[in-house]
Amino acid sequence: MSTTLTDRFGRIHRSLRISIVDKCDLRCTYCMPEDQQFLKRDELMTREEITTIARLFAERYGVNKIRITGGEPLVRPDAVDIVRDLLQLPVKLGLTTNALTLQKHLEGLIDAGLKSINISLDTFDAERFKKIARRDGFDRVWANIRMALDQGLRVKVNMVVMRGVNDDEVLRFVELTCDHPVHVRFIEFMPFAGNHWGRERVYTYGEMLGQIGSVHSFEKLDDDPHSTAKAYRVSDWPGTFAVISTVTDPFCATCDRLRVTAEGKMRNCLFARDETDLLSALRRGEDITPLIEANVRAKHALLGGLPPFKPEKQQEVLHDLSARPMVSIGG
Ligand code: 5AD
Ligand code: SF4
Repeated sequence: MSTTLTDRFGRIHRSLRISIVDKCDLRCTYCMPEDQQFLKRDELMTREEITTIARLFAERYGVNKIRITGGEPLVRPDAVDIVRDLLQLPVKLGLTTNALTLQKHLEGLIDAGLKSINISLDTFDAERFKKIARRDGFDRVWANIRMALDQGLRVKVNMVVMRGVNDDEVLRFVELTCDHPVHVRFIEFMPFAGNHWGRERVYTYGEMLGQIGSVHSFEKLDDDPHSTAKAYRVSDWPGTFAVISTVTDPFCATCDRLRVTAEGKMRNCLFARDETDLLSALRRGEDITPLIEANVRAKHALLGGLPPFKPEKQQEVLHDLSARPMVSIGG
């Protein structure tokens, strides 16, 4: 029997992000604290446990979109096998990666049937890349983005825009959509544990559109009802761009997303402070459906119950954040 995952405000949830590992081969300042500790192998969900949990969400609860995330999913040796397993489910499957080692896995991913990939890239300057990611990698990532496009994958490029760090590159990223059929997404810098967030460091969606509009004329595209991104196109260009305005214009009213961390903890919001341990219950052989349903019901109306991300609330936001950094939540 199939039921829906509906929260106390009536929002139905059909989209799930599963982190398959909390490690990453980059160490982006906005995502990973300097002293981040990683899980041990036996704390991670196994490939079989991931499939079991994913199948339950898809078959019992009608979840029809699943995204595999990390950390960096491709650092896990069985990442391509997991992609292949989840492609057997009746869902639209996506993968979010930093693409640092994508050249090793691209053929396997395409062979498994993956059609669409989200790649994080915040700059076209190799030195700046090294500052943001605390590792070298620009040339590799950029070559791999082009390779993914050449192979016919649908490619979204995610750029986290931070004031004084890379806000001068927004136009360069928009221009990518002239040269390539790529979907660029500008993401407002969001607060997570240990990421040095400050409201003044957020380059806002209004500022992004202002900067782009001063040079290009662009049109609004239709967004799907649960989309977190507002999509646009510079007239006649093959690619599109979008803004994700979590900080200045959150879209929680239409949010349909759930998350499972690499150690099998369920979160009903990116900013949730409470988690439900599905994996321990699964390993004890218990029925995890009551846990899942209770977790969804408890979802907050807005931003996981954090205060609004307004300048005057900055201290409260920082004080109330979940203890988890983004790298271990899963983007
Ligand atoms: N603010 C906005 N986006 C973030 N991501 C990671 N940390 C943050 C943050 N603090 C994004 C990355 C990547 C995805 C996994 O999540 O850019 O595209
Ligand atoms: Fe969904 Fe939470 Fe993000 Fe709002 S903040 S869109 S409720 S995940």
